[in-house]
Amino acid sequence: MKSSHEPVIVGFLCHWCAYRAADVAGMARTSYAANLRPVMVMCSSRVDPEVVVKTLRGGADGVLIVGCHPGSCHYVDGNVKALRRHTLLSELLGQMGIERERVQLFWTAASEGAFFASAVDRMTKELRALGQLRWSETVLHGKGTDRPGAGTDR
Ligand code: FES
Repeated sequence: MKSSHEPVIVGFLCHWCAYRAADVAGMARTSYAANLRPVMVMCSSRVDPEVVVKTLRGGADGVLIVGCHPGSCHYVDGNVKALRRHTLLSELLGQMGIERERVQLFWTAASEGAFFASAVDRMTKELRALGQLRWSETVLHGKGTDRPGAGTDR
């Protein structure tokens, strides 16, 4: 039986490029999945891994972190720090049975509204395929998500 669950994606968008790209997509009336709950942060480096874990534990099916392109971060190398944290967090979450697709990071320029919209669409599609994240079954009991075979070996 196919799940009708619509994934909830919490998106931490940096103020300077990512949030503006979302604005540009909106102003251009680009339609994209309504699954994103945007949260503005000053820089992608402000997204602490603990916040990501709390967000997933609190009921989100995925977390999206979006920052400026390398070399364009308004805080010099904040996005590089965010990428390093994301790499470590993905590894850690994988060991907990959480699929890597659930926490994604990408870069955008403020002008790339269409790209931003398509990236949100792509992530939404991927999370629909994974199914709902059932944190306690996956992490505490190791039973995985509602996708057959998920949350087991990676
Ligand atoms: Fe956008 Fe740092 S200001 S990633």
